[in-house]
Amino acid sequence: MEDKNLKQKEFWSGAGGDVWVNKQREMDIMLNPLGQRAIDKLALSPDKIILDIGCGCGATSLEIAKQIPQGKIIGLDISVPMLDQASKLASEMSLMNTEFQVKDVQVEELKSEYFDIAFSRFGVMFFEDPFEAFKNIHNSLKQDGQLSFVCWQNASLNPWQSLSMQVIKQFLDLPAPPPQSPGPFAFEDKEYIKEILEVSGFQEIVITDNQEDIVMFSGKSIREASEDYLTINPVVTEMLKNSGDELKEEILEALITKFSDFHKNEGLLFPSATWIVTAKK
Ligand SMILES: C[S@@+](CC[C@H](N)C(=O)[O-])C[C@H]1O[C@@H](n2cnc3c(N)ncnc32)[C@H](O)[C@@H]1O
Repeated sequence: MEDKNLKQKEFWSGAGGDVWVNKQREMDIMLNPLGQRAIDKLALSPDKIILDIGCGCGATSLEIAKQIPQGKIIGLDISVPMLDQASKLASEMSLMNTEFQVKDVQVEELKSEYFDIAFSRFGVMFFEDPFEAFKNIHNSLKQDGQLSFVCWQNASLNPWQSLSMQVIKQFLDLPAPPPQSPGPFAFEDKEYIKEILEVSGFQEIVITDNQEDIVMFSGKSIREASEDYLTINPVVTEMLKNSGDELKEEILEALITKFSDFHKNEGLLFPSATWIVTAKK
C-alpha cells in the first residue's frame, strides 16, 4: 500500500505542495470559476455530508461549507502542507463544519455509504489506479449519492500546457508521458472517464464540455508568471528535475517568448477546455 502513488505524494507533500500553498491566491483566481461549474451541479441542502477529493488548500471545501451550515465537508488529500493551509483558513473563517485529513483516496478506507456527495476540483487525475479510486469513492457514497467533478480536456485545447510542452521539447528529448498516466491530463478522454465511472458502478453519467477563458497568475509580470508556471505542474517539474540552472534559464526565456502573446494586464489570459462530470451512485 505504501508504494502506491509515491511520486504524487513526493510532489504534493514536497516542493509542489509548498508552491501551491504560496501561490494559492493566484491558483484560486484561475480555478474558482471552473470549480464553480462543478459546484453548480450539486443538489446542495444545508445538512449534506460532502467529500472533497484532493481538496488541496481547501478553497472549494470552504466555499461549500458556507452553504451547508448543518452539514459537514471532509477534505481528503495526500499533501500535508496544503491540508495545513486548509485547516488554518477554516479556523480563521470559523467554519466548524469542515474537517481535513491526510488520506490517499485511492488506497485508504473511506467510511462506507457515508457521504451524500463526492466533489472534486482537479483532484481526481493523479491516481495510479483510477478504477480502484472510483470504486472506493462509489462505496463511500450513500445509496442516492451524487458525484460531480471538473477535470482538464486535451492539452491542445489548453494552450498553457501545449505551448509549454512545445518549449520544453525544443530543449529536452523526453518521451511524452503515456496517455492516462497520473497528471493534469489523465482524464482528457471522455470515453475513458465514462469507462472508469461505469466499471466503478456509477450511473447517469453526464460529461459536459466547458470552454472559457482563464486568468493564470493574476497580476504577475510575464517573467514571474512563466517562472511560477514551471513549478506548479507535477509533469513539468518531473521533466525538468535533472536539468541544470543554465538550461532551466534557457527554457524560461523561451517560455516567456511563447507566453507573451497571452500576457494581458491581469496576468496570462488563456482559453481553456474542461469536462464537467456528474454521476449518481
Ligand atoms: C491540482 S491539485 C487541486 C487541489 C484543489 N482541489 C484545488 O482545486 O485547488 C490536485 C490535488 O489532488 C491531490 N491528490 C493527488 N493524488 C491524491 C490521492 N491519491 N488522494 C488524495 N488526494 C490526492 C493533490 O495532493 C492535490 O492537492
